[in-house]
Amino acid sequence: MPTPKIVDHPLVHANFTKLRDRNTRPHEFRSLVRNLTTLLLYEAFREVPTQEVKVQTPLAEADGQILCKEISLVSILRAGLGMMEGFLDLLPFSSVGYIGLARNEETLQPESYYCKLPSRIASTQVALVDPMLATGGSAIAAVEVLEKAGVKDITFIGLLASPEGLEKLNSLKPQVRVILGALDQRLDSRGYIFPGLGDAGDRLFGTE
Ligand code: PRP
Ligand code: URA
Repeated sequence: MPTPKIVDHPLVHANFTKLRDRNTRPHEFRSLVRNLTTLLLYEAFREVPTQEVKVQTPLAEADGQILCKEISLVSILRAGLGMMEGFLDLLPFSSVGYIGLARNEETLQPESYYCKLPSRIASTQVALVDPMLATGGSAIAAVEVLEKAGVKDITFIGLLASPEGLEKLNSLKPQVRVILGALDQRLDSRGYIFPGLGDAGDRLFGTE
């Protein structure tokens, strides 16, 4: 089973602490999610293969590197939208796909309501983003959508996971790399990550 990478960095911890705080309002929550996504993305693709190229500066030719394989972003709606800007800050030319899933709060099963993927997605490596990996059902359903579309190389980037959700994702989809900001204690009786940060979608976009 591949081990998830839990990014251990003082800036991640500091942003996370504010994110968890119940008094953090949506505008600040969005900015923290954006910062954290950039920090996790930086670590997620640290070892991605590159190819040497030449680049012409205003003065001379210099050595450069480009990524061997394009990285595209797929966001699990709705809370994954909060991670989009942080991703595009680092990779502004990436194509972006959306998978709409809403967890049924009684059965805890994800229900699909939308899907739009870039036409070239199968030839790219995909960063699948969702802040929360709780039971794991939504992430697994999204991976299955990507597999059906022909994607072979998937990295799941999440802010927070439960041990139960991580175990399920690892055992059903061992080929998916997992990058996280933190791994919490457990799921609670309502299927929330504990101590967690509450409902990520509501905290990002507000409920009133
Ligand atoms: C949240 C979260 C994940 C899912 C995690 O979304 O963003 O997609 O729950 O739970 P799971 O691992 O048990 O499937 P939710 O379905 O609440 O929708 P939202 O983003 O629209 O709020
Ligand atoms: N979805 C959330 O937004 N938070 C949780 O803790 C679990 C699922």
